[in-house]
Amino acid sequence: MNTNFLKLLPTLLFLTGCAGNGDTTNDPNLPPYQNESLPLEQRIEDALSRMTLDEKVAMLHAQSKFSSAGVPRLGIPELWCTDGPHGIRPEVLWDEWNQAGWTNDSCTAFPALTCLAATWNPEMAALFGKSIGEEARYREKDVLLGPGVNIYRTPLNGRNFEYMGEDPYLASRMVVPYVRQVQKNGVAACVKHFALNNQETRRYSVNVEVDDRALYEIYLPAFKAAVEQGGAWAVMGAYNKYKGQHCCHNQYLLNDILKRDWGFDGVVISDWGGTHDTKQAVENGLDLEFGSWTDGLSQGVGNAYDNYYLARPYLERLKRGEADRQTLDDKVRRVLRLNFRTAMNTHKPFGSMNSPEHLAAARRIAGEGMVLLKNDGGVLPLDSAATGRLLVVGENAVRMMTVGGGSSSLKVRHEYTPLEGILAAVGSTCEVLFERGYVSDATDTFDGVKTGQDLSETRSAERLIADAVKAARTADAVIFVGGLNKSPGQDSESADRASYGLPYGQDRVIEALAAANPRLAVVLVSGNAVAMPWIDRVPAVLEAWFSGSEAGHALADVLFGRVNPSGKLPFTFPVRLEDNAAHALGEFPGGDTVRYNEGIFVGYRWHDTKAIRPLFAFGHGLSYTTFEIANVKADRTSMTANGTLRVTADVTNTGDRAGAEVVQLYIGDAESTLPRPVKELKGFEKVMLDPGQTRTVEFTVTSEALSYYDDTRHAWTAEPGRFTAYVGAASDDIRGQVDFTLE
Ligand code: BGC
Repeated sequence: MNTNFLKLLPTLLFLTGCAGNGDTTNDPNLPPYQNESLPLEQRIEDALSRMTLDEKVAMLHAQSKFSSAGVPRLGIPELWCTDGPHGIRPEVLWDEWNQAGWTNDSCTAFPALTCLAATWNPEMAALFGKSIGEEARYREKDVLLGPGVNIYRTPLNGRNFEYMGEDPYLASRMVVPYVRQVQKNGVAACVKHFALNNQETRRYSVNVEVDDRALYEIYLPAFKAAVEQGGAWAVMGAYNKYKGQHCCHNQYLLNDILKRDWGFDGVVISDWGGTHDTKQAVENGLDLEFGSWTDGLSQGVGNAYDNYYLARPYLERLKRGEADRQTLDDKVRRVLRLNFRTAMNTHKPFGSMNSPEHLAAARRIAGEGMVLLKNDGGVLPLDSAATGRLLVVGENAVRMMTVGGGSSSLKVRHEYTPLEGILAAVGSTCEVLFERGYVSDATDTFDGVKTGQDLSETRSAERLIADAVKAARTADAVIFVGGLNKSPGQDSESADRASYGLPYGQDRVIEALAAANPRLAVVLVSGNAVAMPWIDRVPAVLEAWFSGSEAGHALADVLFGRVNPSGKLPFTFPVRLEDNAAHALGEFPGGDTVRYNEGIFVGYRWHDTKAIRPLFAFGHGLSYTTFEIANVKADRTSMTANGTLRVTADVTNTGDRAGAEVVQLYIGDAESTLPRPVKELKGFEKVMLDPGQTRTVEFTVTSEALSYYDDTRHAWTAEPGRFTAYVGAASDDIRGQVDFTLE
């Protein structure tokens, strides 16, 4: 036998399209909708023409908690969704939230999206999307319910950890590679929650009142980028209302903006239980309904799905002639398009799960996202060999964070806690002691997934502090690991945070440790800003986020200097809650209506404009080395509306370690008819530099970066006049600026 043929077989199979699940290309016996060599739209029309009215309606609503029907008669498969956005949710029972108890569905938990945003590195977003997309694909999922890009309006939003921060430009840059890479796996990204979903209090009913400028300049751009540049195949409607209509069936957001203005050709999926009315769902842009509690049917009741708004009630309206067939066909076309792109795509890759590559990706993104907020006297990095005795204090050093928090809760193969990571990193080079310090309201289970941890504790709060202080006195260095957790009222879905301050008496523990030992580093595990009344007494603070399966290893990488921190804050840490614009000017959480009176002045836009010093600014983040940013120049002094301006700056690593700096470009409009923030982020680049190395960073400014949304003309406008380009290492650390005019 000629074995050369066998060697060539994989290549031949690939070239003929058999690399995926089977070959449905160019077979003349196949009906056109199954023939993948034909144009997508032709296949959709063919499938549509073969479907009965009942089959069409059956495609538009759930058939279980996370799946919707295909067309069995035609071999069009079901669609399976999964949360999202940090890992693949464990399989749940057909009709219930509770996990199904499978043993093959433990996933890799990637860091929370706040951590991803804090990398300020679109390459990390691509790596994240690729990896989570592969896990979704391996688990045979068609739609990943994520990423989330709702803007960080206030630190009290319980779901901020699932989003990408306060700035529309940063979130836009980060969401696009995530979406593209997920979808390369034949898995749709479902970008959520569209739109204005900025609180959990009264989330099912609150009506958001926001002006058009803030809507277009702040709250919509990341969704627009995900759709227009990322090519997202699905978008999830939000629970809340806008202009009095629920966002899952909202004429303005779904029909006018998403589908008409942005040309979205994918599927609008309702949030689970976000649909409230058949006529509105039909007419106002919803395509696929999930999780409804129609008639109060919430759990495992026979035929509950027939009662969905887009099920029998819709079918009856169609039969009575109260709903038109064109609208129906538009929805079915969209669902078919999604199906052909995902479930019916036989050329998609096979995916993979818990691979060493995925764990390495989780660790890398986590390490790159951690933000060194303060490091006086070089407390960090720690040299374990020179440390002798290291004390670790705090519940978050030992508590698993992947279980809890709502729909993003995961079942992981393994989660390395901070203490495990520290122990693994120091080996036998130093002695490590642990003290609990405080006790939270720890829950160890979510939807049937158990952490298996026993965190019970009998000592009083006083005793816990006394024990920690005693150990701190004899330690060479102390690492406190605290922050928030995934319990309700902390960083968790369904309820907003109970307060801006650290919970469970942690401030007292930190104060006591600071008094006992000057070599103290506070590590915050959270997805949100917190108040730090002790900041002047603590030399080092690291924001470590919820960082997934590899949390402990990634933290140890940074603490011991294996990774030089390069994360930057994707949102402002105000000193006090009242310093945040939503609390100073706007309403939070409002009543039946919440008014965003602060308009466009969200996050640093407010702090800058009102000169309110933040605790830590948007874009802030230190390194173990130092960087100089100099020679900020523009290639011209004026530009035209269709022209460009090139802004350059030299960045040099002036310290003695390799490291990365994020060079940030902000633009300010000196003369404007409408009020504008002092400056807005319009470019950034993360630059890796060896000691002594210099690189020139270049930004191209177009009139888009100078524009605001003129709500009287309903158009983006770049007004001629004077502008300033600011280049720096944080929104409050500008190293150079250059003026120019728009002609
Ligand atoms: C959440 C969504 C999630 C869905 C399905 C809802 O409660 O708001 O983000 O994707 O549940 O779990």
